[in-house]
Amino acid sequence: MLKISIIGCGAIGTEIAKATDKKIIPVELVSVYDIIPEKAYDLISLLKNSSPIVAENLIQSVKLCDIVVECASQTAVKEIAEVAFPLKKDIFVLSIGALVTYSWILRSAEKFGCRVYFPSGAVAGLDGLKAATFGKIKDVILTTRKPARTLLGKDIKKEKVVFEGTAKEAVQKFPVNINVAATISLVGIGPKKTKVKIVADPKIKKNIHEIEITGDFGKIKTRAENVPSLLNPKTSYLATLSAISELKYVVENIKKKGK
Ligand SMILES: NC(=O)c1ccc[n+]([C@@H]2O[C@H](COP(=O)([O-])OP(=O)(O)OC[C@H]3O[C@@H](n4cnc5c(N)ncnc54)[C@H](O)[C@@H]3O)[C@@H](O)[C@H]2O)c1
Repeated sequence: MLKISIIGCGAIGTEIAKATDKKIIPVELVSVYDIIPEKAYDLISLLKNSSPIVAENLIQSVKLCDIVVECASQTAVKEIAEVAFPLKKDIFVLSIGALVTYSWILRSAEKFGCRVYFPSGAVAGLDGLKAATFGKIKDVILTTRKPARTLLGKDIKKEKVVFEGTAKEAVQKFPVNINVAATISLVGIGPKKTKVKIVADPKIKKNIHEIEITGDFGKIKTRAENVPSLLNPKTSYLATLSAISELKYVVENIKKKGK
């Protein structure tokens, strides 16, 4: 059975670990690591059928597994890539903004013959976007609306556009909130051409992502109204579910290929 380690034991890492424990994802969870050790111990206390170790550091966690599952931060992705690729380990990334911020990561994976997997996150329509790249795309525009308190840490009376620019700039200015911009860029026309608008909205309780794609194929518009995760209001619950779904797909396919 394939072995995974989870780096980052917060909202998403915990749900992925529970999905491995229930055998929804058919892998062996061998280790967990968090810069706050209590988070790692809290996570393993929730598991009933598996007993991963709490790694002392990131390097130990990477060495123990076949696929490193990152659910921590952009910095963690960078640190993992530096250790994992020379050891020929594939990585599964949640903090997708890192793949835009540190563009060397994808080049390094290729150089070492490793794979970088990532889930669709809290949006719909990436299948259509991917297909459209085989024709001519005129525009990809992401409009993200989040509750004002989540985005600004305070209440406001009227909605406020807090950012308008390219996905590349959005990822740098909102590293925690805007993984979706990075995902769309990587699947579509790249971070410098993808346009992003971020709106703080005092009237909503959900994280809303609208994608508009125009090209020689016509037009696609999608809208996902996301319930925030119970453990982390900045994370949409659908992002967690998409991580579970994609990781399950990845490991089942690796198994079919007999690796
Ligand atoms: N791809 C997507 O669509 C999407 C959606 C939501 C969140 N995310 C990203 O996924 C990551 C996890 O999200 P979450 O909601 O579980 O966050 P969270 O804050 O609930 O948990 C993150 C955990 O990682 C730990 N951590 C931070 N830096 C670390 C490091 N360098 N090494 C080890 N542990 C570290 C923290 O202590 C924390 O326990 C975040 O970067 C978030 O931005 C991606």
